[in-house]
Amino acid sequence: MKICRTVEEMRAVVNEWRACGLKIGLVPTMGYLHAGHISLVKIARKNADRVVLSLFVNPTQFGPTEDLDKYPRDFERDRQACEENGVDAIFAPTPAVMYDEDFSTWVKEESLSQVMCGVTRPIHFRGVCTVCLKLFNITRADVAVFGRKDAQQALIIERMVRDLNVPIKIITAPLVREEDGLALSSRNRYLSEDEHRRALSLSQGLFAAEKAFANGERNAAALIALVENSVSANGGKIDYVVVNARNTLRPLETIDRPALLAAAVYFGTTRLIDNVFLG
Ligand code: PAJ
Repeated sequence: MKICRTVEEMRAVVNEWRACGLKIGLVPTMGYLHAGHISLVKIARKNADRVVLSLFVNPTQFGPTEDLDKYPRDFERDRQACEENGVDAIFAPTPAVMYDEDFSTWVKEESLSQVMCGVTRPIHFRGVCTVCLKLFNITRADVAVFGRKDAQQALIIERMVRDLNVPIKIITAPLVREEDGLALSSRNRYLSEDEHRRALSLSQGLFAAEKAFANGERNAAALIALVENSVSANGGKIDYVVVNARNTLRPLETIDRPALLAAAVYFGTTRLIDNVFLG
């Protein structure tokens, strides 16, 4: 497995692969890998001949009061997980490699980024889009795999790729959960045992709403209330709970088309997101 720290090193590796006609799959991550990330690697392996996993805690997608400095990092652990799961190359640049001091070009998606996480994290998706386009250009990947855990992010990346004619295929992978239902996330590490236990109310609320939907409930407010009540009863603070059309992220009152029930909540200072598809 190759470890590339600079753009030049990464380019040399992928140029060689491309010269042999090999198809390249990319899994962009911020590291501290868990089974959710590894599931993306497996999908990339099925859809490409060589897999690049990027490990980069991207500073431009964190707001000034967010957890950039304390975001968990463990290169050795991640390197091992990559080795064990058949990653062919890790791209692990420093912020200085990715952002020149006078960096001044941004990719800003202006519709899907206005709702949900975009409301409380106004510069987040600009940072995500910009870094992903850079990663696509650096790795020259044919396919990139994103997780449905971040459903809004995956949708925004698909929109960017379509709008800017980026020659890459985006695959969206299922959400992976812990056995107890909590959506896997590098940020789960911040939760105390008690917070983890109470945080289960988020997935439980979403599952209850999913069940109500399966039993015929089509009123968005009723489903939102199920999630909000579950989280609030367990001391969680709600950022948002929404029912939006799955393709446009426009809010729905009545669920008459494929929908996304998505939530962002705080337990202590840890912000968690989760979602289920309806229909
Ligand atoms: P990160 O949070 O590390 O996630 C990397 C990828 O793993 C994303 O596509 C995310 O949706 C996916 N993922 C995380 N948890 C998952 C789970 N439980 N099940 C399935 N997939 C999961 O998302 C980012 O990093 C960054 O914004 C990035 C795209 C790398 C840009 O910096």
